[in-house]
Amino acid sequence: MRLIPLHNSAQVAKWAAQHIVSRIKAFNPTAEKPFVLGLPTGGTPVETYKELITMHKAGDISFKHVVTFNMDEYVGLPKEHPESYYSFMFKHFFDHVDIQKENINLLNGNAPDLAAECQRYEDKMRQLGGVQLFMGGVGNDGHIAFNEPASSLASRTRQQPLTEETRVANSRFFNNDVNQVPKSALTVGVATLMEAKEVMVLVTGRNKALALQAAVEGNVNHLWTISCLQMHPNPVMVCDEPATMEL
Ligand code: GLP
Repeated sequence: MRLIPLHNSAQVAKWAAQHIVSRIKAFNPTAEKPFVLGLPTGGTPVETYKELITMHKAGDISFKHVVTFNMDEYVGLPKEHPESYYSFMFKHFFDHVDIQKENINLLNGNAPDLAAECQRYEDKMRQLGGVQLFMGGVGNDGHIAFNEPASSLASRTRQQPLTEETRVANSRFFNNDVNQVPKSALTVGVATLMEAKEVMVLVTGRNKALALQAAVEGNVNHLWTISCLQMHPNPVMVCDEPATMEL
């Protein structure tokens, strides 16, 4: 596993943004052969999105031939809700770069048939030749995307109930009221992530130290789903100093 230990979260964001840009440039995407990029939400990637926007505004990178797939979305939250991952992505990234709207893929947590929605997502990813680079974050309990502890390592895109711990952690975005946090989400599966050519995870802050330890030093197991990356051919963990405290 490739581990990039940096001092602080600003350096993590810079490294991650530069890595994405270099991968897109090396791929040399066209309308016929776009670069497929997987994207996360959460507090951690916000700075990376800012760096990507700065690089875009400086003329260093175009997202015109980039297709994106987000990792997850809450079930039952209207997409216009400020904390839906749809709103998050437009606010923090899509509204500020030249990505084409038809190239943006987000799971619809309000679809009438959620299982069909998940299948549609998987099919579309496959039709586009799979994801080149999936960027992710990690939950305090080691979940990647919304693959909560005890998710099967063979899981695909599906509806997943959220643990109390995740709902409490995410209640900071919902007026600190856990009752406002949806009880389930749609998420890409562990096996879906494992099919990406490369997976880059951003890990910052002391509260992620146990998750990083599980990812790097623990056994591969379904209680810390991030540990699946030990089996991936091309994983990169980009972390700050506080996150490495348990290594
Ligand atoms: C949520 C998201 C994950 C994210 C995690 C950590 O549960 N579904 O994709 O990695 O939160 O978020 P944060 O970066 O805010 O700590």
